This record gives sequence, C-alpha cells and structure tokens, in this order.
Amino acid sequence: MQTATISFDRFNSLRDEDAQERIRAARARLGDRAVLLCHHYQRADVYQHADLTGDSLKLARLASETDSEFIVFCGVHFMAEVADIMSQPHQVAILPDLAAGCSMADMANLAKVSRCWRELTEVLGNPDECITPVTYINSAADLKAFCGEHGGIVCTSTNAPVILDWAFERREKVLFFPDQHLGRWTGFNKGIDLDKMVVWDPDLEYGGLTPEQIRDARILLWKGHCSVHQMFQESHIRRWRMQHPEGLVISHPESNLDVCRNSDYVGSTEYIIKTIKAADPGTRWLVGTELNLVDRLAEEVKPEGKIVQFMAPTVCMCSTMQRIDPQHLAWTLENLAEGNVVNRISVPEHEAEQARIALDRMLAVS
Ligand code: 13P
Ligand code: SF4
Repeated sequence: MQTATISFDRFNSLRDEDAQERIRAARARLGDRAVLLCHHYQRADVYQHADLTGDSLKLARLASETDSEFIVFCGVHFMAEVADIMSQPHQVAILPDLAAGCSMADMANLAKVSRCWRELTEVLGNPDECITPVTYINSAADLKAFCGEHGGIVCTSTNAPVILDWAFERREKVLFFPDQHLGRWTGFNKGIDLDKMVVWDPDLEYGGLTPEQIRDARILLWKGHCSVHQMFQESHIRRWRMQHPEGLVISHPESNLDVCRNSDYVGSTEYIIKTIKAADPGTRWLVGTELNLVDRLAEEVKPEGKIVQFMAPTVCMCSTMQRIDPQHLAWTLENLAEGNVVNRISVPEHEAEQARIALDRMLAVS
C-alpha cells in the first residue's frame, strides 16, 4: 500500500545511532524484498548493512542474479544504472542519494563521444570498420549504449586485459573512455608502445591530434581520470620503500602509469582486498586506492600482524560515494517499507537495450 512519501527533511538531522536503528527496523520490515548491494568504497557505517559487496564487475553480476524486488545500491550512479539494466523488469534499482555520481564518469558524455566519432570518420573513414569503442563501466548508460550500437564493449578494472584482446581481435584500433590511466596501463601490459597510445582531448578539435597521430595510434585514450587516484604519485612509493624495503605495494589501475609500474600488484578493489587477506601474516602493505577501503582493510587484517598503509599523505576519499550516509539509507528504506519508491534509477528502454548488448558482451568474455 502506498502512502505519502516521507520527506528527507526529517532525516537530515537524525543522529547516526538513530539512523542505524531505523535502517535495521526498516530492513526487518522489508525482509527479502530488498537487497543491499555495496561497493567497497562505501563508508563503514553503511557498508556494515550490506547483503552483498564487491567491485564493479562482481556487483554487475550480482545485480543480474538477485531476485529481490528492490536493489538498493550503495555506490554511485553508474553502478545503479548497471543494476537497472541487468536486472529483471519487475525489479527496481534505487540509489539512496541521487547526488552520488562519479566525477570520472562525468568526464565523457554522449555529445562529446559522438563528436569524436564524427571527427574520426573524417580522418579514417567509417570508424565502425576500424575502431572498437571500449567504455569503462564508470560511464553513463548512454555511452554503454553507444558501444553496444557500434560493435563495442564495456570493461571493468578486473577484465580490461581480456576486453582489450576482444576489441583488437575485431578492429585494429581502440577508442578507450573515459579513464586514460586504465586504458594506458592495460595497453602497456599488452606491449603497445606508449607513443601508439595517444590522448584524445574532447575539448579540442580532433582531440588535439594531427591526422598522422590518429592514423598511427593503436589506442585513443580519452582525457579523463579519477580525482581520487590521481593523488597517488610514484614519489610516495619511492619514499615508503626506502623506509620499508621489505614492504609490498598494491594499487588500483586508475592510478597513473608510474604508480602502476612501481607497484608489486595492480588490480581492482576486490583484487586488492583478496590479495592482502591472502598474504602472509606480518606483511606490510602500501595501498593506492580509496581511503574507506584501506582503513577497513587495515583493521580487518591487523589481528594477523599485517600492516596496511594508505599511499597518499593527504586524505582522499571518493566524496560522491561518501554521500550515501546512514540518514539517506534510513530514509530510502523507510519509504520502501511504507510502499513508496524513492530515488529510482531507471534507464530508458531504448538505451538500456543497446547498453545491455555491450554489458552482455563483457560478461560473456570475462
Ligand atoms: P572497482 O571495479 O575496482 O571496484 O573500481 C570501481 C571504481 O570506481 C574505482 O574507483
Ligand atoms: Fe569515480 Fe574515482 Fe569515485 Fe571511483 S573513486 S567512483 S572512479 S570518482
């Protein structure tokens, strides 16, 4: 039964402990009707309520497998969009705070990618014959749809290597957006020369490149980056290794190439967690990824004598992820329990259909 939507105003000033209590009570009322999917960067006071946690690839799979009526996504906007696209028609994807976006995803949009495609047509002829568009999952649904329509695919930080192989098996070049760093690191590991991976600046005509540069390139890397991972620098690793020569360094591939090259391990959030949990007791780690994950992991492995340290000297959290707080979660769940769907993320069907093609290709390959 639907009642009047409960306004968020009443939750804004709720004390954290009260919000926690109301989350638990609303969840008890909802039972199996709601599932809480949580990305590893979520703050601890939200993460503790997760039914399922994961990196972007795992969460995309979980969203396609769960049967609950409400998928409450504690993550960012593009993740909830993927949940909507990959779930069944009777399921509803919800993002507790609509302001939880991803600043990297916002660095590419359909107008700019379409212009890029037009300009590539002028230089190369029909790009559908020579370039595979690959979008990082950190992108809006219409960009995934663009890839679906143009023989392209989605990738995540876990599967980027196999996705790049898939892309090159079909066409000689790749347009990789929006994260230049993940694209460069993946191409570098495939042995592609750095000068064959050129940066496409969407604010300049022809990406700021000459026709020769475009013709010579193997990968066109969109000029986008993550504001959190750009804080990590090779100098942080060098200094730390001088103090802890026995220590191990692990980074997320959204970090720049120098950071990745100087790390002992590079991988997704799930990979980072698994690697450190499986490591020998007493090991010491420097970690280049978001602070909530690093702090939580440090506490979890402390009893085994493992020391986990954050790479940057400054605090860098994913401020958009951080917007999903206990107050918004309590508000969302209470509304659901009262029969009111708030903050639904619904991708228009014509877009979802094409985006699903690109996502299904990814899941089939990885
Ligand atoms: P993962 O897929 O590794 O969880 O990365 C998502 C993300 O946004 C990292 O910044
Ligand atoms: Fe986006 Fe960076 Fe936040 Fe990941 S950490 S969600 S890439 S802004």
